[in-house]
Amino acid sequence: MSRLVIVSNRVAVDKGASRGSQGGLAVALNAALRRFGGVWFGWSGEVSNSTATEINATTVDNVAYATVDLRQSDYDEYYFGYANRTLWPLFHYRLDLVDFHKRYSEGYFRVNNLLCSRLLPLLKPDDLIWVHDFHLIPMGGQLRQAGCRQRIGFFLHTPWPALEVFRALPQHEAIMRMLCAYDVVGFQTERDFRAFGDYIYREAGGSVDENGIVNAYGTQTRAGVFPIGIDTETVTKYSEKEANSRLTQRLMTSLGNRDLIIGVDRLDYSKGLIQRMSAFQHLLENYPENRGRVVMMQISPPSRSDVPEYVDIRQELEAAAGHINGAYAEFDWVPTRYLNKGFARHTLAGFFRTSKIGFVTPLRDGMNLVAKEYIAAQDPEDPGVLVLSRFAGAATQMTDAVIVNPYDVESTGEALQRALHMPLEERQARWRAMYADLCRHDVADWTKSFLDVLSGVDVTPDMFVV
Ligand code: F6P
Repeated sequence: MSRLVIVSNRVAVDKGASRGSQGGLAVALNAALRRFGGVWFGWSGEVSNSTATEINATTVDNVAYATVDLRQSDYDEYYFGYANRTLWPLFHYRLDLVDFHKRYSEGYFRVNNLLCSRLLPLLKPDDLIWVHDFHLIPMGGQLRQAGCRQRIGFFLHTPWPALEVFRALPQHEAIMRMLCAYDVVGFQTERDFRAFGDYIYREAGGSVDENGIVNAYGTQTRAGVFPIGIDTETVTKYSEKEANSRLTQRLMTSLGNRDLIIGVDRLDYSKGLIQRMSAFQHLLENYPENRGRVVMMQISPPSRSDVPEYVDIRQELEAAAGHINGAYAEFDWVPTRYLNKGFARHTLAGFFRTSKIGFVTPLRDGMNLVAKEYIAAQDPEDPGVLVLSRFAGAATQMTDAVIVNPYDVESTGEALQRALHMPLEERQARWRAMYADLCRHDVADWTKSFLDVLSGVDVTPDMFVV
């Protein structure tokens, strides 16, 4: 059996005891690595002044974790610059925030090359290589140029932007050529896949057939849709266990008999946090019966705090929450709770189970696993309602959520009112449909689907429909 080599910007070392605190994706990838045996390779998360040639290696059972530090200039240009200030806003349709700099793009290709050169000596001839996310698109092409003949797959966790948006990227052609060098390219949704296909037809003059076979730039690749899932069973177990935990009980006591609306997102401008606050304000303004009766808790751990746009969103969110509290709070009720910190996954599962509404309204999101975890954590007898943005990849699967347009804050406020008063039977019917799908298509199913295609085992036609 081939070994599996996972390559991603960040590496999640599986320390066994710490498994419970890892995200679902890290757990699933580690499980796949343990099954195949192999290597997880990427950036260590550290910046060092040395020459960045050293590999930090740890082995746990049959899995080796190999990481490299970045020099300050590499971090600045590749991660801070091109990944976080160019590709991230562009892939999330925020052309107004995109910062193009030649040195950023040069740093991006340079660091990808550096990572390739460190990875190559670790490879064995029949390895399966699986590269993840927008930080590392060039690796496929660069590994090929360096003579790598193993099968290489790529999965994009973020959205793939529409043709006109992607064409705004000065390096759009170079990036696309690199993407087409992979054997398999996976997207979260059909929307992303179609946007990619659009570029292939209209800009690259290539073709995509009904099996997802892409011919462009003189090479052939296979593209498909592989919507990522969560570790459904674990989240459900956590939520059952946490229902009576000390923290969940404290939360419930603090609420009294008020209804809780919960949002959990990295503090990122793509998450629609300001519009979300406005929608909640609309609810309080237009349905005054909710005043004193409903609390909105927004949990947003800081993220990429050295990027100026993330400093701005933090200030804006603090101001928006403060504004609502200033306008509506009473001596015995504060409408919004904004927490600028993270919680363990199991704690969140308990919080989700306690919440009447899961409020997930990104302006653009590859998938959004919070939407899925919220549903997995509900009590089947008395489930809450998911209010979900149509611009989250999850909305293409979770059609029984209350789907909203997050830019339309008035309608989103109306949706909150509907969700708060939804009859039990309707809540149960919606929840049952979504939960069944989450059980069928969990994260283990996702890794298996992708790796089956990459290793040439399985071809599931609906993954490749154009
Ligand atoms: O796809 C979303 C993503 O970029 C992940 O790769 C990453 O784990 C997460 O956002 C957090 O971002 P960062 O690694 O930049 O802190």
